[in-house]
Amino acid sequence: MAKLVINNEKKVSKINPEIYGHFSEHLGRCIYEGLYVGEHSEIPNVNGMRTDVVTALKEMKIPVLRWPGGCFADEYHWMDGIGPKEKRKKMINTHWGGVVEDNSFGTHEFFELCKQLGCKTYVNANLGSGTVREMSEWVEYITFNGVSPMAELRKANGHEEPWTIDYLGVGNENWGCGGNMRPQYYADEYRRYQTYVRNYSGNQPIQKICCGANVDDYHWTKTVLDTCFDHAPAHLHGFMDGLSLHYYTLPETEGDWNVKGSATKFTEEIFYQTLKRSYYMEELVSRHGHIMDQYDPDKKIGMMVDEWGIWTDVEPGTNPGFLYQQNTMRDALVAGMNLNIFNKHSDRVKMANIAQLINVLQSVMLTDGAQMIKTPTYYIFKMYAAHQGAMLLQSDLLENGTVGSGKNELPKIFESVSEDENGVITVTLTNNSLEAAEEIEINLTKDGAAYQVCEASIVTGRMADHNTFENPDVVKEETFSAYQKSENGIRVTMPACSIVSIRLQK
Ligand code: AHR
Repeated sequence: MAKLVINNEKKVSKINPEIYGHFSEHLGRCIYEGLYVGEHSEIPNVNGMRTDVVTALKEMKIPVLRWPGGCFADEYHWMDGIGPKEKRKKMINTHWGGVVEDNSFGTHEFFELCKQLGCKTYVNANLGSGTVREMSEWVEYITFNGVSPMAELRKANGHEEPWTIDYLGVGNENWGCGGNMRPQYYADEYRRYQTYVRNYSGNQPIQKICCGANVDDYHWTKTVLDTCFDHAPAHLHGFMDGLSLHYYTLPETEGDWNVKGSATKFTEEIFYQTLKRSYYMEELVSRHGHIMDQYDPDKKIGMMVDEWGIWTDVEPGTNPGFLYQQNTMRDALVAGMNLNIFNKHSDRVKMANIAQLINVLQSVMLTDGAQMIKTPTYYIFKMYAAHQGAMLLQSDLLENGTVGSGKNELPKIFESVSEDENGVITVTLTNNSLEAAEEIEINLTKDGAAYQVCEASIVTGRMADHNTFENPDVVKEETFSAYQKSENGIRVTMPACSIVSIRLQK
């Protein structure tokens, strides 16, 4: 039996809601079909945005959405996506399938979508193939409330009031698809571009995100920070609010990216290998965080894990450039483990954006024409939503076992615990074992006897279980009742291959 000791007198850090963030790129069927069907579609929509999708995302409490890429961002010229739709330029989406991008979803549509979702906005600007002027004019177009060429253009295009940019990415993956830059060169460019990102709205500054490392490129992190901090101390306030990190879990790849492994057909060995590879996030966040500590000991700069998730082979018969993959119980565990890791590092991790929202990579929803299904990953985000904005509590898992073997061995249970403003404590747990249930004694250091369960739910199934358009409810969130009161808290029994959320109240 494992033992979870919660120190409910020790609040560690605030869990920024944006840790539960999402990412939408002009890639495959994410924007078109997934989110946006156009005003004249027979699929129910409001101003072109799918009603079923918007409703489900609100229920899941989506806190922030990143757009327009990804690699697409560094080829995107925002002026192509404004004005009358019939006059908007068509372009080739060279990164993703070589399809025609008609720019019918642009700036106005993105802000309309975020308004409907009630979420924060994260715009990723083009540094790779754009100009400083283009980036600064985009910010002016979106946020300036006075008299200026860009503000007038926005008004002429039908939007009198400015919008708010909460986060601005200054380039994406500039070590790769965003220009193949060396870290020192990128950092110099970052310094220059960010200078012209003006805060027109005054009281709500735009949070600027600098392009961080790919996976374990610690040299990138160190060099970028070194270069940005050199001769910059006076600018530091508002100079850099976040540094990104990208890490994808590739189940089977051993160097060859073309062999990532199927989303639904895998062995138990590959299941554990996938979880072990995903657990690497813990080391990445710790080690990149350690480098950031040397430059920013007060943790003012957030680590923004703005691309993460499982990346498998595409579903057979689908366009390889569209990255459409199914989503199983394995994905649910990947999501549950990673979100627990991010919560536990919420002193440094201020945002994370799973890739991608819909129909691409580890999505929370899939669509087929008018049909929409929720994936196992959707239910994890919904179950964990109670952590958003809550305070992480100090917690320690004792006598935790391991699963998998050899190089694939990893801890059996992952957990994180938070307390919200009403004093309700949320505990989220993953049981990564395919065979063994686990009893967990949860003890609170203060007033343990007084706490009762006020809400509890579970997602469980066999490792490759997934939802389809024919059977949409194979995996779903269900009420969890396998717990009993104990002297200083609660004792739960988690089935194998499960994720549980349990909420405690005095
Ligand atoms: O999410 C798919 C792609 O992965 C993104 O466009 C890019 O940033 C990353 O390499």
